[in-house]
Amino acid sequence: MRAAAFTGIGSPEHVEVEPFADPEANPGEAVLEVEACSINHHDLWILRDGFRVEEDQLPYVAGMDVAGTVSAVGDDVESVEPGDRVLLCPNQTCGSCRYCRDGPETHCERFDLYHGGLAEYAAVDADRLIRLPDTVDSVDAAAIPVAYMTAFRMLEEADVGPGDLVFVPGATGGVGVATVQLADVLGARTIGTSTSREKLDRLETLGADYVIESGGPDEIRDAVLEIGRVDVTINHLGGPYTEVGQNVLRRGGRMAICGQTAGPTSTLTMGDLFLNHKRIIGSTMGTQSDLERLVDLVADGRLDPVVDERYSLDDTDQAFADMDDRNALGKLVVEP
Ligand SMILES: NC(=O)c1ccc[n+]([C@@H]2O[C@H](COP(=O)([O-])OP(=O)(O)OC[C@H]3O[C@@H](n4cnc5c(N)ncnc54)[C@H](OP(=O)(O)O)[C@@H]3O)[C@@H](O)[C@H]2O)c1
Ligand SMILES: [Zn+2]
Repeated sequence: MRAAAFTGIGSPEHVEVEPFADPEANPGEAVLEVEACSINHHDLWILRDGFRVEEDQLPYVAGMDVAGTVSAVGDDVESVEPGDRVLLCPNQTCGSCRYCRDGPETHCERFDLYHGGLAEYAAVDADRLIRLPDTVDSVDAAAIPVAYMTAFRMLEEADVGPGDLVFVPGATGGVGVATVQLADVLGARTIGTSTSREKLDRLETLGADYVIESGGPDEIRDAVLEIGRVDVTINHLGGPYTEVGQNVLRRGGRMAICGQTAGPTSTLTMGDLFLNHKRIIGSTMGTQSDLERLVDLVADGRLDPVVDERYSLDDTDQAFADMDDRNALGKLVVEP
């Protein structure tokens, strides 16, 4: 088979299509003929910085959000059979640590994510497959897992409800757009930011109630406060946007954090935190059952995952270049 692999660490020029051995289905596994795989900033971290990948693992096939058709199953697999259209939940958990037993599964102390979907075939854990309804096509399905699960769980952890005002710094990427759309499903209102006017115009059509065209933390803080203090900040940017995200919360407000695109550290103001009863919540991914709910929302027409661009396997390097250049609104999907 062919796969788009990282042959070096650094820039999208290191994404090359190479031949690999066809995967086989070991016990408990299914092999998928991959129809679509979306990319995430997490994959870009690997390509740019070698995040959790060693030189000796190159060439490395990334890709966590995989949709396709089952082509083979290993011994003991009864949950799916060849011909089933499926979506992979990329979560990998041990199932036996105290955090797995307590739940949610995202707390597993050995929590990890599947990688390998940017290929014609992928061998995956059969228990992690969700059957796709006929009304959900593979490209839309592949847009859902990492971005929408993460947004879904953060909104849940931050207890977002009808009428809440939710601040989303960097609202135009995978997690950002998913947050705006899902907040809308919940009846909440959103304030989204971007450095691109064109992306913000499109974001408004997806349900954003207020948009701020700026990348400057101070300017963003002032603009949000002019709209009003927020109930919740959903923060995947980290860095200086974290301080802003805290500043603009109302008394008793919550900030969920899942990422650090803009930097791994920030300053927090203690007095503001404790005197105003603000809460900060770390969150990673969502559960497989969150993903099942998201697929149901798409099947029922309540949620339309935003796919900005589709690429052939040979153009996977371009998909990474577009993400790196901040050219995308929502998700970028490769069709191997
Ligand atoms: N913990 C988890 O489970 C989890 C899961 C998913 C994602 N994440 C993390 O969440 C982040 C977002 O992921 P994603 O896949 O949604 O990424 P993405 O699609 O690349 O996000 C693009 C968004 O981020 C903004 N942005 C990009 N670089 C920026 C910078 N240097 N400073 C300020 N804004 C910047 C863009 O703003 P413009 O519109 O101005 O270009 C755009 O709104 C990543 O850090 C990722 O690792 C974590
Ligand atoms: Zn565990």
